[in-house]
Amino acid sequence: MHEFPDTVRAPLRRTNSVEWGAVMEPFRIKAVEPIPFLTPEKRQQILDEADHNIFRVRASDVTIDLLTDSGTTAMSSAQWSSLFMGDESYAGASSYERFEQTAKDLTGFPEIIPIHQGRAGERILFTELLSSGQITAANTHFDSTRANVEMLQCKAVDLPCPEAADLTDQSPFKGNIDLDRLWELLAGPDGEKLGAVIMTVTNNGGGGQPVSLANLRSVQEVCQKYGVPLLLDASRFAENAHLIIAREPGQEGRSPREVARTMFDLADGCWASLKKDGLANTGGFIALRDTETAARCRELLIAWEGFPTYGGLAGRDLEALAQGLREVTDPAYLTYRADTARWFADALAEAGLPVMRPAGCHAVYADAGRLLPHIPPAEFPGVALVCELYRTAGVRTVEFGTLTLGHDDQPAPHELVRLALPRRVYTRSHLEYVVESVSDAVGRAEELTGFEITGPQAPMRHFTARLSPLGKGRDIQ
Ligand SMILES: Cc1ncc(COP(=O)(O)O)c(C=O)c1O
Repeated sequence: MHEFPDTVRAPLRRTNSVEWGAVMEPFRIKAVEPIPFLTPEKRQQILDEADHNIFRVRASDVTIDLLTDSGTTAMSSAQWSSLFMGDESYAGASSYERFEQTAKDLTGFPEIIPIHQGRAGERILFTELLSSGQITAANTHFDSTRANVEMLQCKAVDLPCPEAADLTDQSPFKGNIDLDRLWELLAGPDGEKLGAVIMTVTNNGGGGQPVSLANLRSVQEVCQKYGVPLLLDASRFAENAHLIIAREPGQEGRSPREVARTMFDLADGCWASLKKDGLANTGGFIALRDTETAARCRELLIAWEGFPTYGGLAGRDLEALAQGLREVTDPAYLTYRADTARWFADALAEAGLPVMRPAGCHAVYADAGRLLPHIPPAEFPGVALVCELYRTAGVRTVEFGTLTLGHDDQPAPHELVRLALPRRVYTRSHLEYVVESVSDAVGRAEELTGFEITGPQAPMRHFTARLSPLGKGRDIQ
């Protein structure tokens, strides 16, 4: 029976629902970076100059950057030292051999194709597997996944489980696919068109919620019955494995590596953005069982990414990834990561911010729609909260509401703001600073106003849009 190491947990202290002593970083710090502190007046000026689009703000003007957990990881001393072993040979580099062996040991897939980041894998795999007019079904397609399906004139259908719709529902596996709707799709007129089923683990587009092994097993049965390939978007495979151990009956006591292997064993193939659970700043892989499919993917790889033993990466990147893939399944690290997210969600809720439940691992999602009911979806309540958190304390978060996921007159299902947790970057006291800033901003919720887009209305408008505050401007206190 596996036991989590005591070192992760400090003595408990409780205020209402929050355990303040529950998490300790299972690492110490060897290199540090200074954090910028600006005045609220300066940040207001920066926001105005950035047209209230947080993507236009320079990183050097951000105090705590919770924009994304992707590519923002702090590498370990073992990873930094592995960089020097990078073999930068064009073909047959030994760094590739180390990366390939690590990925094979982890996933059990015999074919490992390196890629520079996740979306390159999506483009290659879908170009190989799909033809125009086909459909992919997923628990939820991540936005780049959907874009790559649609660019091939195919349709991406999201089938999240019903519990996912209720942000306060405490069900443990809200990342599951809705099996009834999957059966219906297959048995209906569009069943013939289904080119692949995609399970995103954990489900980033659905709030970082995990997928259970039971759900994956059922999906595999459906896919086998109809002869449809089952693919994992495995960018957060280790976090999903940890949440299975913590939440799924019968899985307690298994190691994250064992559970991850069970997940991979159920699929025909996968791709992963290793900017997440590769614990590195760039990279990814496609991993497949079928040799012929892999050979055709490698042809596309050569045209789009590079030779199959580097796939758009430097040899040193492959070294850092191989080491990161070994570190990420450490139970102490994963326990700390999940505990941090749970503690952060509880503390934010206690500070008055409505948050999605239960917390996953890579982020806490706030319900800006509930916090700011006086701002309609068309006026982007999530943007109002993102701007206020930056103005108040220099905390950068990101809107996952109508600006990002809606279009024209169609609002997003929820007006969320994501507070992502870069891996091994911020300590508890940094997050306590965020909680205090949130408490401050929440106190002014009624004063916040909405925004309108003043240009441009591109397909991925959240990255480029200029926004202007509606209503009367207000002075900073
Ligand atoms: C679930 C998921 N899939 C795919 C991607 C795309 O990966 P990348 O940003 O490395 O292209 C991401 C990135 O955030 C993601 O979260």
